[in-house]
Amino acid sequence: MATISSSISADFSGENGYAEIDWDNIGFSLTPTDYMYKMKCSKDDEFTVIEANLIPYGNIELSPAAGVLNYGQGLFEGMKVIRREDGKLVLFRPEENALRMKIGAERMCMPSPSVDQFIDAVKQTALANKRWIPPPGKGSLYIRPLLLGTGPILGLSPALEYTFLIYASPVRNYFKEGSAALNLYVEDQFDRASRGGSGGVKSITNYAPVLKPMTKAKDRGFSDVLYLDSVSGKYIEEVSSCNIFIVKDKIISTPTINGTILPGVTRKTIINIACDHGFKVEERQIAVEELLEADEVFCTGTAVVVVPVGSITYQGKRVEYHTTDTNSVNKKLLSTFVAIQNGQVEDIHGWLVEIN
Ligand SMILES: Cc1ncc(COP(=O)(O)O)c(C=O)c1O
Repeated sequence: MATISSSISADFSGENGYAEIDWDNIGFSLTPTDYMYKMKCSKDDEFTVIEANLIPYGNIELSPAAGVLNYGQGLFEGMKVIRREDGKLVLFRPEENALRMKIGAERMCMPSPSVDQFIDAVKQTALANKRWIPPPGKGSLYIRPLLLGTGPILGLSPALEYTFLIYASPVRNYFKEGSAALNLYVEDQFDRASRGGSGGVKSITNYAPVLKPMTKAKDRGFSDVLYLDSVSGKYIEEVSSCNIFIVKDKIISTPTINGTILPGVTRKTIINIACDHGFKVEERQIAVEELLEADEVFCTGTAVVVVPVGSITYQGKRVEYHTTDTNSVNKKLLSTFVAIQNGQVEDIHGWLVEIN
């Protein structure tokens, strides 16, 4: 396990080591924690840091002309710190999030922190909010890094000043609550991303447009929306905030990363774990018809980890999948993933980063 060093070593934990909340009933909504991290930088080739500090969690001041407010120049990331039974506080593949932010920043004409700066800042934020990291098995501390164009800019062009901000919130384990299977609605009116657009990066501008189809689907009792490619409308892409896989005759397939789908860290990890288990994994175009004939369908993402899909509704037709089989491929992959995180299965790929 890699260990990373931090420039701040203060211990911000409370007296009993934990914040006083009902750890058995944390949800997915925002629970503000003590500190956030703020790094101000200017736009030049070197990503010049003007100042970087841990500060009390709270509102930030922004120019009304900030690039992010006017032109949507903003990126975000999502990752988790878990507290293990052995007392270790671990991050999972944080360099993947750092690299994804770098690639996104390049697409959005923003400077970005280096991988080391990113990981160090995430570590500082997690340690400063240590008392909010749930007890083992009760959840995780969700970490939300943001990179925002905060400099004022009137004409359409990249802002001249940027803020790298990180806040955190404890969240429960999704899969602990019976892993309610997802009922997905295949959207054929609204597209999530277009060829040559920004669907492949975690730009804030990709998320508001999915609220309408998502809300409509939720109002009709669905869990979320599955999007199709915007060119032919024939191939599946991804869900509003997770990637999708199908299993047919023990072969696992997932849509290819082609610029319109977010390259999920969990997706990449699940492909690795599946290969380690000896499964054949294909990254390719998947027609909706194939999805409807699959043996299993599941989604992956930082929040849900691996969650089975219970039904798909497409053009008025609903197909249901068995989700209670304990020998299913998705359950096997999820249990290996969790066992690696918890230290019960050897971390042969070096995915865990211990922060304490
Ligand atoms: C659109 C979209 N797809 C997929 C994912 C899953 O990515 P990850 O596994 O890195 O959380 C996310 C979540 O970040 C997302 O927002």
